[in-house]
Amino acid sequence: MILAGKMLCAAAVIAGLLAFFWRDTFNPDSIAGARVLLTGASTGIGEQMAYHYSRFGAEIVLTARRETVLQKVMEKCLQLGAEKVFYIPADMSSPQAPEEVVQFALKKLGGLDHLVLNHIGVTPFQMWDGDVNHTRWLMQVNFHSYVALASAALPILTESKGVLTVVSSLTGKISTPFTTSYSATKFALDGFFSSLRHELTMQKKDVCITFCVLGLIDTEAAMEKTRDKVYMSPSPAAEAALTIIKGAANREREIFYPWWLELICRLRDWFPSHRDVVIQSFYNHTST
Ligand SMILES: *[C@@H]1O[C@H](CO)[C@@H](O)[C@H](O)[C@H]1NC(C)=O
Ligand SMILES: *[C@@H]1O[C@H](CO)[C@@H](O)[C@H](O)[C@H]1NC(C)=O
Repeated sequence: MILAGKMLCAAAVIAGLLAFFWRDTFNPDSIAGARVLLTGASTGIGEQMAYHYSRFGAEIVLTARRETVLQKVMEKCLQLGAEKVFYIPADMSSPQAPEEVVQFALKKLGGLDHLVLNHIGVTPFQMWDGDVNHTRWLMQVNFHSYVALASAALPILTESKGVLTVVSSLTGKISTPFTTSYSATKFALDGFFSSLRHELTMQKKDVCITFCVLGLIDTEAAMEKTRDKVYMSPSPAAEAALTIIKGAANREREIFYPWWLELICRLRDWFPSHRDVVIQSFYNHTST
């Protein structure tokens, strides 16, 4: 009886601590009027982030490749209550694009509080076929352009004590099948931005880097690609977008969506061979 009582007590304390650490401390006012530059803003999670930022009354510069789609997203953002919205079409495989985009945002918004790096290049979801050229191109789009955008914006973010949000994936923490090049670009982001986070702290620069680890999200592109190939249920893009925005506003170093990805990442290296068997069981072995 006494033991049961003690265990109950311990469970209550743990539940209380979890509730405390996971409580929602998000204050929407912290984003009202914030100056945001958002990449990959035309579809998927980026588009949903644009709408959430608009509802919170941010001032936004949207960028992606396709002008007609950006125009539509901009119109919806204005309807939803964004203070100001601008867009600039840009292809992040071009080495000049990052600097041009940051300069455009600076000119339009007069500064920057949030830089949200979210765009990705189109990549096949299949077994490695030896296309090294594709890997090189994807590295430019998913990694080198992130570094260039962050470098161009860092002096501005330092001034505003801003936030740099880097959208990544579970496969940027734990490798999964059919994502060789993609996984490599996302691991590279973790290495670069985690090292940069150290340096910002050492230099006493108050710029937060929020690294976002996302699972399978129900965007059109992801659903199309993974159909018949993975046995996992996707999570909604709008909720993923809101979780990212809240995490960045709260200046968290990492966010995980869905939340249980954090447990998987923490346990990553405990039982590697069992881990790989479990991971492979979620993928269609007969697909190429
Ligand atoms: C390499 O990939 C890029 C981008 O997909 C493409 O434009 C280029 O033609 C490719 N080059 C070769 C040699 O395949
Ligand atoms: C696995 O992939 C094969 C080949 O694409 C497909 O025919 C089959 O339906 C898939 N299996 C499942 C359970 O989705």
